[in-house]
Amino acid sequence: MRIRDGERPIVERGASFRIDVDGVSIPAYEGETIASAILAHGGRVLRRTRIKDNPRGLFCGIGVCYDCLVIIDGTPNLRACMAPAVPGLRVQTQKGVGPAEREARGTG
Ligand code: FES
Repeated sequence: MRIRDGERPIVERGASFRIDVDGVSIPAYEGETIASAILAHGGRVLRRTRIKDNPRGLFCGIGVCYDCLVIIDGTPNLRACMAPAVPGLRVQTQKGVGPAEREARGTG
């Protein structure tokens, strides 16, 4: 996909596919991160804090602040801004430190 400004391409995107975020199928593009796909789809909250349940979203966008922790295919505490979107990925927004890995996978 290419987004154009007149005749000059300003953004080129890879092939499109879909990922699942909290049970909702959203579009993503080859080469972008999970955080990019979620933000482009209008999502702003990636996790909630452990004690006060405050929403947290993308802050640094470069893997430093850890505000974007999500559960990816059952593994908690992964940074959405650093993880590439790949076809068929299952992402869950995270509460606190996240569930134990087996609980997140639904096997515990
Ligand atoms: S937004 Fe800071 S680590 Fe992801």
